[in-house]
Amino acid sequence: MTAEDLYMMYKGVLMPTLIHPPESLMRFERFTFRPDDVLIVTYPKSGTTWMQEIVPLIMSGGDPSSVETLHNWDRVPWLEEAHSCSLDLDNRPSPRMFTTHFLPRMMPPSFFEVKPKVIYVMRNPKDVFTSSFHYCAMASFLVDPGSQTEFLQKFLKGEVMFGSWFDHVKSWLDYKEQIFYICYEEMIKDLQDSVARLAVFLEKSLDNDAIVKIAERCVFQNMKKNSMSNYSAVPKEIMDTTKSEFLRKGIAGDWKNQMTVAEVEYFDAVYAENMKDVDYRFAWD
Ligand code: A3P
Repeated sequence: MTAEDLYMMYKGVLMPTLIHPPESLMRFERFTFRPDDVLIVTYPKSGTTWMQEIVPLIMSGGDPSSVETLHNWDRVPWLEEAHSCSLDLDNRPSPRMFTTHFLPRMMPPSFFEVKPKVIYVMRNPKDVFTSSFHYCAMASFLVDPGSQTEFLQKFLKGEVMFGSWFDHVKSWLDYKEQIFYICYEEMIKDLQDSVARLAVFLEKSLDNDAIVKIAERCVFQNMKKNSMSNYSAVPKEIMDTTKSEFLRKGIAGDWKNQMTVAEVEYFDAVYAENMKDVDYRFAWD
């Protein structure tokens, strides 16, 4: 199916209508944040599900009950998703944990009033592209990626769900309130250190033993076995895991196996042009 059938334009970005219908977007527009909410923000395929495992474990002091009994979409729900309309988010006890793929300019007024804690996860866009390419081929609510070169063009122009990676990253880097920036590659390199730094930001004091256990539980091979987080509960008509698994490879640098030399050159040129004024030191640079 085409973008016209599957996506709608909302505040300048394409949204898959099946999981983000107008009623759930309108609900998010009226959503009231609390100052002690924790919000995971990502561009899709940057490590959202990973963070939805780590943050609840940190917040519970390492108690695994929520990650063992609740699906990630119930545990740390997406505020823009249709599914969230079935959850009583207003009456959840504090501190609540949420997820969004929205850009800052799409956030509701209360977000800017109360300034909840934000964790923004970034990933090498070539790996985001690679992961998205496989994901779009397996998820029936997303436009089929077509050829790799075609999808590359669309990705770099932002004609994909949630728009341009460049806009997303640059606009969240400009948001200066209560925000913790972390790269997927830092988590790959040293997950214990990442968990420890996240715990400081979340004002949770964890001893070394708890940090080690959380990191161990969240390494790819272990997390992949968690049926509450690996999307195995989603019917094949929606996510066809025979085409690609949701927790697919879980590595940094898979783009080297995916992209041609010409595609890499083109990508690098577009990246250099779009990121020339950004002075953040990304872990993939
Ligand atoms: P790959 O497709 O490259 O394997 P998101 O959750 O934002 O949709 O991102 C999905 C990507 O994060 C997938 O990347 C997935 O495998 C990876 N991922 C999920 N959990 C992970 C973990 N524990 N360790 C490393 N990567 C993980």
